[in-house]
Amino acid sequence: MMARACGVDFGTSNSTVGWCRPGHPSLLPLEEGKTTLPSAVFFNAEEDRWSFGRGALADYLAGHEGRLMRSLKSLLGTSLLDGQTEVQGRAIPFRQLLAQFIGELKRRAEQAAGRSFEHAVFGRPVHFIDDDLKADQQAEASLLQIAQAAGFREVAFQYEPIAAAFDYESEIEREQLVLIADIGGGTSDFSLVRLSPQRAQKADRRDDILATAGVHIGGTDFDKYLSLSSVMPRLGMGSRLASDAEMPSSHYFNLATWHTINLAYTRKAWEELQDLRRDARERDKLDRLLQLVQQRDGHWLALKVEEGKIALSEATVTALQLERLPPPQTVLVEREHFDAAITHLVMAIEAAVGELLRNAAVPAEAVDTVFFTGGSSGVHMLRKRIASLLPDAQRVEGDLFGSIGAGLALDAQRRFG
Ligand SMILES: Nc1ncnc2c1ncn2[C@@H]1O[C@H](COP(=O)(O)OP(=O)(O)OP(=O)(O)O)[C@@H](O)[C@H]1O
Ligand SMILES: [Mg+2]
Repeated sequence: MMARACGVDFGTSNSTVGWCRPGHPSLLPLEEGKTTLPSAVFFNAEEDRWSFGRGALADYLAGHEGRLMRSLKSLLGTSLLDGQTEVQGRAIPFRQLLAQFIGELKRRAEQAAGRSFEHAVFGRPVHFIDDDLKADQQAEASLLQIAQAAGFREVAFQYEPIAAAFDYESEIEREQLVLIADIGGGTSDFSLVRLSPQRAQKADRRDDILATAGVHIGGTDFDKYLSLSSVMPRLGMGSRLASDAEMPSSHYFNLATWHTINLAYTRKAWEELQDLRRDARERDKLDRLLQLVQQRDGHWLALKVEEGKIALSEATVTALQLERLPPPQTVLVEREHFDAAITHLVMAIEAAVGELLRNAAVPAEAVDTVFFTGGSSGVHMLRKRIASLLPDAQRVEGDLFGSIGAGLALDAQRRFG
């Protein structure tokens, strides 16, 4: 029996689609035989054409006139979702960008599976938005609307860490109390669950989910604070104007934040930057900023910073090569510096784990396993700190980019058959 439904992990950075077929891995190939499609959309204004995933990043980096958007999921639940970006006089609503991407995920999955999917279980973070229930509900409602517009007739939602738990459960042989830690691009999500092969057979798992918790902090925030601390100062952030006032920081924040990079490219922003350059005490730094904006290289820079961050998961120091900017082009970043830049974020993530254990009224010693998934669980300090909250638990590393999608596929089969 083949399932009628698929599981869709629409991630901030990467997306997957899973489908259960006996004897086959569940994740479907979406691009160049790979099971992940980076959540990126490029509108090529020269050719009036859309591209997606690695293809979108490549088209943007090749310098085609157009608009790149990454981190689309971060728009859900914010007022930015109803905004738009402009390219060559054409306005592209962000909702349309999201619908294009989800529609493309569906098309590619259907092509790989050789059949159509009308039902889907979409993953969702525990909180799209922190401490704002209404905005959080709005985020889910918007995603539902967009999924339906993309052609899914029936859509259910599942918490991303619960989906990861279902994936891990398919591998274990005895009952375990497990903390699932899913540290992704946009959110860090946790769930404390009782897993076993017998429990996996039950239709209703509510009693096995002891608690969930999540914060709207993930790898894209690590990129942002690494950029603000190590790269933006070289473009004039923190420098002084003739009046001795500090350079306004909004342009730097927009450029350091994946989903707001395009806001740095408006005509108004350009005029402001030119005024600031006239008043700047360190004009060479402003020249680098102006060149970056003029070349529309904001995403290129963010990709460099992200690469550096990922390198620091292995090495204690790395060099960013900023060849598209005027010299000096090499920026050395030490892991210690990165750790310092993200300490406040890591503390907030740790607090979410503490809260989860308190809510579940479970002592740390009772947890058998910590299961790590999500690309950002590669960040050294974060993994060390979470593990130290549960010193007795064994640590298991899942498929960092595939566990959620595989779990959603299982859930889709259970719910829709
Ligand atoms: N080795 C690594 N070390 C640190 N970070 C990494 C590593 N590999 C990938 N990342 C980061 O992981 C993030 C992407 O992870 P993932 O694909 O799990 O997120 P996502 O599912 O798209 O996001 P979310 O679940 O929050 O919506 C990116 O921020 C990426 O930079
Ligand atoms: Mg994810």
